[in-house]
Amino acid sequence: MESTPEFYTGAPVDPVDLRYRGAFLNELWRALRTRHVVLTAPRRTGKTSVMDYLRDNPENGFSVVSVNVQDLTHPADFFQGLLDALHDAHPDFVRDHLAKGWALVGSVLGRIDEIGVGGFKLALRQSDPNWRENWRQHGDTFLRQARNSHVPMLFIIDELPDMLLNLSRENVALLREFLAWFRTQRLNPTPARDSIRWLVGGSVNLAGTLDALGLVDLINDLEDMRLPPLTGDDIEAFVQDMLSGRGVPSDESVAPRLISRLGRPIPLFMQMATQDLYRLWKSEQRMIVPADVDAIFDALILSTGARSRLQHFYSRIRQYYAEPKRSIAYALLSQISVSESGLERVTLLQETERLLLGLGHESPGHERKQIFNQLLLDLENDFYIIEIDDEVYDFASGVLKLWWRKYYA
Ligand SMILES: Nc1ncnc2c1ncn2[C@@H]1O[C@H](COP(=O)(O)OP(=O)(O)O)[C@@H](O)[C@H]1O
Ligand SMILES: [Mg+2]
Repeated sequence: MESTPEFYTGAPVDPVDLRYRGAFLNELWRALRTRHVVLTAPRRTGKTSVMDYLRDNPENGFSVVSVNVQDLTHPADFFQGLLDALHDAHPDFVRDHLAKGWALVGSVLGRIDEIGVGGFKLALRQSDPNWRENWRQHGDTFLRQARNSHVPMLFIIDELPDMLLNLSRENVALLREFLAWFRTQRLNPTPARDSIRWLVGGSVNLAGTLDALGLVDLINDLEDMRLPPLTGDDIEAFVQDMLSGRGVPSDESVAPRLISRLGRPIPLFMQMATQDLYRLWKSEQRMIVPADVDAIFDALILSTGARSRLQHFYSRIRQYYAEPKRSIAYALLSQISVSESGLERVTLLQETERLLLGLGHESPGHERKQIFNQLLLDLENDFYIIEIDDEVYDFASGVLKLWWRKYYA
């Protein structure tokens, strides 16, 4: 029998403990046979966990290399990071297929011993004093060499939208060049004939971001796959397994109560709440009942662990939403947070009109309506709100709603 998984409250789920993703993993591998894929979902919902699983359990003969590019600001760093990860995961491949016929990498391999741990990346960086000017040439050579090997390679690029945003802040021209280069590489040869596959992951809505910069046509060849939210059955199974697997007795209404308190489940909060129930049992050694779930949710939003994670949802609006959307988003969300069960679309529209006037926005009515429609779509796409009923919107996550009400309403 499988052993009870650990609790994960932040780090990606270790592939041996990953559950509820079997069907989606099959879908991903199927898509990757013929397409490059972008995997999107909000932060803390399980993208990296799925990607780590692919990396550790490759199918279809792929060799997998995985990098997180969240903090990178230049294409040169991108290739250095990818080559370094490739060397970590498949040193033989680098030696047998990249170094032969590519002097730059050949010379790096020759110097590793002398530089020691972390040697490859360091030597790679030093291999060309003009890496930043020559990124395109090195990128081309890299992919050509890899293709010549005919070894199926899956490159997983986690948090690419963040890197693109970094680039857009520093140098929009460079962002455009990189995106154009990357698109050409994805289309020639066509994916079905290419030995290389790209799986891009991101928490921010890539299309929305690039659309604002007029660059969305440079990524629209990627197959967009959304990580499905965990279902009620998944959550029920999770709570059941995690508690009874640890010998914790619980009332059968505990899981349904947890599901309703979660709202649209953010798996991280499902883990944190269930772990708190387990801790409660450890200290009180009694049957867990639905009222315990309520107490734990109320306490959860006050905990430092949850706060630091929730803060991101608040800050990202300041980061990614331009005025006047930013002020309106904050205002609408705080109003929704104090509602019993959501607000009607007309109410939100009226409020938006009022705010726009207050902000000195004397644009015509249809323009104000357009701003409103766009904003509502952004808030839905970024998983803040959800249409719970016909034309009625509420917070998608129950935890986020409670937290917003407490700190920002
Ligand atoms: N399949 C799963 N089952 C249970 N919990 C999960 C699952 N996937 C993710 N989680 C929870 O979500 C958290 C974040 O997972 P992660 O893969 O890092 O998400 P992302 O990359 O989308 O930010 C984990 O620490 C864990 O609490
Ligand atoms: Mg992640």
